[in-house]
Amino acid sequence: MPQSKLPIVVLISGSGSNLQAIIDATARGELPVEIRAVISNRADTRGLQRATDAGIATETLDHKAFASRGDYDHALMALIDRFQPGLVVLAGFMRLLTDAFTTHYAGRMLNIHPSLLPDFKGLHTHRRAIKENAAEHGASVHFVTAELDGGPVVLQARVPVHAGDSPEQLAARVLEQEHRIYPEAIRWFAEGRLRLDEDGHAKLDGNLIELAEELASGN
Ligand code: GAR
Repeated sequence: MPQSKLPIVVLISGSGSNLQAIIDATARGELPVEIRAVISNRADTRGLQRATDAGIATETLDHKAFASRGDYDHALMALIDRFQPGLVVLAGFMRLLTDAFTTHYAGRMLNIHPSLLPDFKGLHTHRRAIKENAAEHGASVHFVTAELDGGPVVLQARVPVHAGDSPEQLAARVLEQEHRIYPEAIRWFAEGRLRLDEDGHAKLDGNLIELAEELASGN
């Protein structure tokens, strides 16, 4: 039976390698989504070029042109909603979000964060994991709530931290896993299998996702 495609909008700030993974999975027919637009808060990013190369509409909304975070988020919401997405996908969108924004997209906005949440919320996660001698590190896909990197986790991938790893080496190992788990979680949502319930719990096929539904990494 042909599946209807979920319209999505992807928000980026930079290189867009997760965006590329989503584009590629969609092109391979593995992801029943229609990427209606890619929006960046920075002009001239590699991610915008990736979208253009794939024939996807792009928009830049520069946060520096707005007097306050609230004004920016208000304008961003209006821009996103023009495309009527069923899901907003944050893929390296490096902005703190207002409560008005997260409330507006409650249950229909996902983020990927480069750590095993709840560990290492915020920035510089790879450097901090190395500094704290973490044996394992990884990435988490989660629903976005008002709490920074604090929404219910949907899917995680773990990687080992090797002795002598640089933050860049560790980031590359994590990124490889991000490219695997983000399209997977988006697919679950697009297929109607993944939901945030009224109590704020992430559910897959009606079952509570306890800490995380893990896919073991081969590394
Ligand atoms: C990714 O590692 C993503 O997890 C991270 O930024 C990178 C974007 O890479 N996101 C955050 O840190 C959000 N707090 P990409 O632009 O190549 O997808």
